[in-house]
Amino acid sequence: MNNLFKLKPINDLIKEADDPSKGLKRTLSATNLISLGIGAIIGTGIFVLTGTAAATHAGPALVLAFILSGVGCAFAGLCYAEYAAMIPISGSAYTYSYATLGEFIAWIIGWDLILEYLFGASTVAVGWSGYFQSILKDFGIYLPPEITASTGTKLINVPNEGWQNWTSALTERMAAANIDINGLQSTTALFNFPAVLIIGILTTLLVIGIRESANFNNIIVLIKLVVIVLFIVFGFHFISTDNWVPFIPERVIDANGHGHFGWFGIVSAAGVIFFAYIGFDAVSTLAQEAKNPQKDMPKGILGSLVVCTILYILVALVMTGIVNYKELNVPAPIALAIDKTGDALSWLRFPVKLGAIAGLSSVILVMLMGQPRVFFSMAKDGLLPASFAKVHPKFKTPYITTIMTGIVAAFFAGVLPINILGELVSIGTLFAFVIVCIGIIVLRKSRPDIERPFKTPWVPLVPILGAAICFLQMLGLPMDTWLRLIVWMAIGFAIYFLYGIKHSKIQNTK
Ligand code: ALA
Repeated sequence: MNNLFKLKPINDLIKEADDPSKGLKRTLSATNLISLGIGAIIGTGIFVLTGTAAATHAGPALVLAFILSGVGCAFAGLCYAEYAAMIPISGSAYTYSYATLGEFIAWIIGWDLILEYLFGASTVAVGWSGYFQSILKDFGIYLPPEITASTGTKLINVPNEGWQNWTSALTERMAAANIDINGLQSTTALFNFPAVLIIGILTTLLVIGIRESANFNNIIVLIKLVVIVLFIVFGFHFISTDNWVPFIPERVIDANGHGHFGWFGIVSAAGVIFFAYIGFDAVSTLAQEAKNPQKDMPKGILGSLVVCTILYILVALVMTGIVNYKELNVPAPIALAIDKTGDALSWLRFPVKLGAIAGLSSVILVMLMGQPRVFFSMAKDGLLPASFAKVHPKFKTPYITTIMTGIVAAFFAGVLPINILGELVSIGTLFAFVIVCIGIIVLRKSRPDIERPFKTPWVPLVPILGAAICFLQMLGLPMDTWLRLIVWMAIGFAIYFLYGIKHSKIQNTK
């Protein structure tokens, strides 16, 4: 029983981080880290999910949802920053909990982080596939429908629109236009080829080297930042303040018994758009590759979070100011807002699609970069087979785990739909944040002696609020998602008790 709660000695961790022969190449500066953070954060959340959150949950008060979720992430981010500066080693929340809460909790977190990074990469790849196909269509290129969506998706050929997912919204639209949907040509998708393709390309890039990957990331981060700033600056002139009234629409209960809007709607919207903030913590998985981790990890984590929070709040204000929230239930809400300005901003249409494609690519890149580094740490500790910790002799990257992550992420991206993937990612990430916050309080009590180059302010208040806000957002997710989390964790327990506990290299010092 004691084995379950044995701690990895923090002094060993700090020594390991300082040993250049064992470590990965230290090439990343603070700017690289902030850029990688932004690269991981801005993606599907802002480009895809914002519209639905406004139209069905919060209305113009979407901006309050962004603030609420942002505050939860900021509190968790402050805790992450304290850990990352104190224990600058790859592995993220997994490593931190190994040093503070014991091996079993560390395994739970490590297993849970697979949901965030590996499934996260799959989720965003599915979103990427949608934007990619839309750009191809602009050039008159159409892929065979069988390879454009998740396995089993029913597709129908809609006149003038091409192949579309057979959804109830589409059925209603066709009925309104007097088109019999059953009379149209239909097919069933085999797998999502573009989603598999992008993961394949980025995995190859990651095997070749982290510096090359970071440079590639800097370019695409710049593109998506420019696009978002252009939207805010030019869109600002087209805001009609009438669209912000009522700011918090009155709460309504629909025919299915689901509630919308009101104050509680803001909390539900926060749960949905939480996905938009996921990624800042991925910076912490790169601690071992940072040139000056003690100073630069807090800068990387908090800097990227602050930039994105400000941009999100402004995008939410401009978007709900240009388009009435009732019309925002679309997969590309920023594009819709641009269309609403008439021809004035038509020049922004293509750059926005390009920015979205670039944005989503960099999110996938950082997630595919984070996952192998968690596996790497777990393998070094003996909880996974040693081959997981192999570093490529020439490229100095954890190539075996990178390739494995790529293959599994591509598989799920090819076969699963975006909503199932996305909700799993959110619940897994929120769970990790809760444990990270609690760990900070535990460690302040158990090891007050360790040098902390960065200190979370107002402990225990900030970690308690961080954990509480994250848990609240978990409660907002549907029961099905909770069940999937439980099944995933049960598989993780089985692996730990059959393999990890027997192969762990950490001595029980208690
Ligand atoms: N925050 C990332 C996104 O919105 C995961 O795509």
